Amino acid sequence: MKTYLVTGGAGFIGSNYIHYMFRKYDNDIRIINVDALTYAGNLENLKDLEIRDNYIFIRADITDKAAIEKIFSEYDIDRVVHFAAESHVDRSIKNPEVFVRTNVLGTAVMLNCARAAWEKPDGSYPEGKKFLHVSTDEVYGSLPDDGKSYFYETTPYQPHSPYSASKAGSDMLVKSYMDTYHFPANITNTSNNYGPYQFPEKLIPLLIHNALSGKELPVYGDGMNVRDWLYVDDHAKGIDMVQEQGRLFETYNIGGHNEKRNIEIVNLVIETLSEELDDSDPRKKNISKDLIRYVTDRKGHDRRYAIAPDKIKAEIGWEPETTFAEGIRKTIRWYLSHEEWMQHVTSGNYQKYYEDMYGDR
Ligand code: NAD
Ligand code: TYD
Repeated sequence: MKTYLVTGGAGFIGSNYIHYMFRKYDNDIRIINVDALTYAGNLENLKDLEIRDNYIFIRADITDKAAIEKIFSEYDIDRVVHFAAESHVDRSIKNPEVFVRTNVLGTAVMLNCARAAWEKPDGSYPEGKKFLHVSTDEVYGSLPDDGKSYFYETTPYQPHSPYSASKAGSDMLVKSYMDTYHFPANITNTSNNYGPYQFPEKLIPLLIHNALSGKELPVYGDGMNVRDWLYVDDHAKGIDMVQEQGRLFETYNIGGHNEKRNIEIVNLVIETLSEELDDSDPRKKNISKDLIRYVTDRKGHDRRYAIAPDKIKAEIGWEPETTFAEGIRKTIRWYLSHEEWMQHVTSGNYQKYYEDMYGDR
C-alpha cells in the first residue's frame, strides 16, 4: 500500500484530489493530509472521509520544520503531493510576505524533509519515492491577446504578481533539488481550476455567491481578460497520471484549451443560475445582468493565460474530459446543494475580507 503525504489537502484542489484518489484507489492507498487550516482550509470538505482508516489528518504548518520532520519519521512516505500555498492573487497584492513564507519557505522545508527522509548514503533514492509540486501557469506571465500564443513547458518564467513570483520561486527550488541532488520530483503548471469546494474569493464561486445573495458582480477592468479554465477533477486526474506515468524530473503543463474572457464567465454564471433555480425560488428574481458592475482593475492584471497541453497529451495520454458547459453546470449545482457550506465559509472573517478588497474599488 502506497502512503501519500498531501499538503494543503483541506483547500480547494487538494480536497478534490483526495476525493478523486479514494474514488480511484479506495483501500489500496493511505493518505496523510497535512494542512495548517488557514482561512482557505476547511475540514468540512473532507468530512465524509473521516471514517476511513486509511485517511489521516495532521494539522501542521509546512514552514514548521520540526513538525514536518516528525511526520516523515513517523510514516514511510512514498509520494508527496504538494498543494499547500497561499493561492489568491488579490491577497498577494495586499500582503505579499505570507506568500513568500508559505510558498517559498514552505516548499523548501517540504523538499528538505523529503530529501532527508529518502536520500540514501550514496545519494540515490529508493525506487518509487516521488515528490510532485503543484504549480500554476501564472509563473509564465501574460500572453498577448491573440488567441494563438500559448504557454509551453519551455516558456521562460516572467511572473508579475507577488503570488506568481512566489510560485515561480518555489518551482525554481524544486528544479534546484532535481539538478543538485537528483531529487525525484515533477512539477505541474496548471491553468485556472473551477469546481466544488472553491473558496468564494476566486471568480466563479464569488459570482455564484454574490448572484444568489443579490449582490453586485464585480468585473475588474474591461472584463476582457482571458483565463483557461479546467474542471478540478480533470486536474486531479492529471496530477495522478503525471506522478504514475510521467518521466521523473519533468515539468508538465495541465490545461484544456478552454479560454474564456471574464465577462463570458459572468454571463454564463448568470444564465446557468437562472436556468437551475425554480421560478418559485425567491433568489431567482435577483439574478440578472443588472448585477454586473465594472470596478477598478487589479494592479498588474495579466491579460491572458493559455496552456498548450501537448506534452502531457503526447507522453501520458491525459486530456480534459469535462466540457466547460458541463463543468459549470455541475459546479453551480454543487453550490446550490451546499448552501450550508457557503454560509459557513462566508461567515466571520469573510465579511471583513470582502470590505477590504472591494470596499474602495
Ligand atoms: P487553496 O487556497 O484553496 O488551498 C490552500 C490550502 O493550503 C488550504 O487548505 C490552506 O489551509 C493550506 N495552507 C496554506 N498555507 C499553509 C501552510 N503554511 N502550511 C500548511 N498548509 C497551508 O488553494 P488551491 O486553489 O486549492 O490551490 C492548491 C495549489 O494549486 C496551490 O499550490 C496553487 O498555487 C496551485 N494552483 C491553483 C490553481 C487554481 O486555479 N486554484 C491553478 C493552478 C495552480
Ligand atoms: P481569480 O479567480 O482570482 O484567478 P486568477 O487571478 O488566479 O486568474 O480571477 C480570475 C479572473 O477574474 C482574473 O482575470 C481576475 C478576474 N476577477 C474579476 O473580474 N472579479 C473578481 O471579483 C475576481 C475575484 C476576479
